[in-house]
Amino acid sequence: MSLPKFVVKTVVADRLPELLKCMPKAELHIHIEGSLEPELIFALAKRNGVALPFASVEELRRAYAFSNLQSFLDIYYAGASVLIKEQDFYDMTRAYLLRAAQDNVVHAELFFDPQTHTARGISMDTVINGIYRACVDAKVELGISASLILCFLRHLSEEDAFETLEQALPYRDKLIGVGLDSGELGNPPEKFARVFARCRALGFHLVAHAGEEGPPAYVWTALDLLKVERVDHGVQSSKDAALMRRLAGDRIALTVCPLSNLKLCVFPTLADHNLRTLLEAGLVATVNSDDPAYFGGYMNETFTQTFAAIGLTTQHAYTLAHNSFEASFIDASAKQRHVDRLNETFETFH
Ligand code: ADE
Ligand code: ZN
Repeated sequence: MSLPKFVVKTVVADRLPELLKCMPKAELHIHIEGSLEPELIFALAKRNGVALPFASVEELRRAYAFSNLQSFLDIYYAGASVLIKEQDFYDMTRAYLLRAAQDNVVHAELFFDPQTHTARGISMDTVINGIYRACVDAKVELGISASLILCFLRHLSEEDAFETLEQALPYRDKLIGVGLDSGELGNPPEKFARVFARCRALGFHLVAHAGEEGPPAYVWTALDLLKVERVDHGVQSSKDAALMRRLAGDRIALTVCPLSNLKLCVFPTLADHNLRTLLEAGLVATVNSDDPAYFGGYMNETFTQTFAAIGLTTQHAYTLAHNSFEASFIDASAKQRHVDRLNETFETFH
């Protein structure tokens, strides 16, 4: 896809939040289990008779004070324990897609973590069918398209990842790609080189979390050994000038999640976030919510808080929305339709 040639008319600063909301956009980095709101966690716990180590929604919310990625993951995996039946996975996904559609997300690529569920005796069938059915219904009822990316948990073994892939193969046509998530430090991409090679041979799109907390070296190995097409987070790349040139030169997108980075203390404040640096170095950066129920914002909130904190402009808004379609795994004609709608939005917004 060609670089944006569209001429953007600057919008006055106080109208920018409205434009950020109404511009069509894709979300490319959302863990569907990270969209489980505390209210839904409690409702599902009651429905399934699961005991939670928190007395109330408020007490659970108060526990959302994280010092790093691992401190978040501990509570995130505990929250996912209420998902038992296919309908639970459906309800979670439905709630996210309804919320995303309100923010004019027109396409979403959803990560899910099957090992979190299969390790508790939930079948792959239950997980994938529940999430997938909600995506099919949302396309018809809300006009939002969504596809699924199966993530391997990197704190588990390569053998476990291979077994998970085998279990997922009967559902091959319901998945567009595979990814790599969970605790990054000490679990470098190379641990999964062989399973990614197999996924590549099977025709899956490939992505991986790299350079969230981990060093630029992990981004290099995600590119060179795993052969990923997009890097999730990747914000540590700005510490390595050669890596920045590689990412820009090959137009490898970064799915950046500013509110996540703030809540997990990757940057001390949102004003310190390096999104502007990434964009100004010519990288295909996108804005995403990661785990919106835990980090305090879906797409619109993420865009408005980030733009206010780092002083981004109308041109940045256009570039970020355009990048989200360019970096998506939708076909070329659908990409063009979304970009046409994006151009129309910017032309007619006054
Ligand atoms: N799983 C859910 N959110 C994650 C994140 N931000 N990093 C790694 N793994 C995750
Ligand atoms: Zn993530």
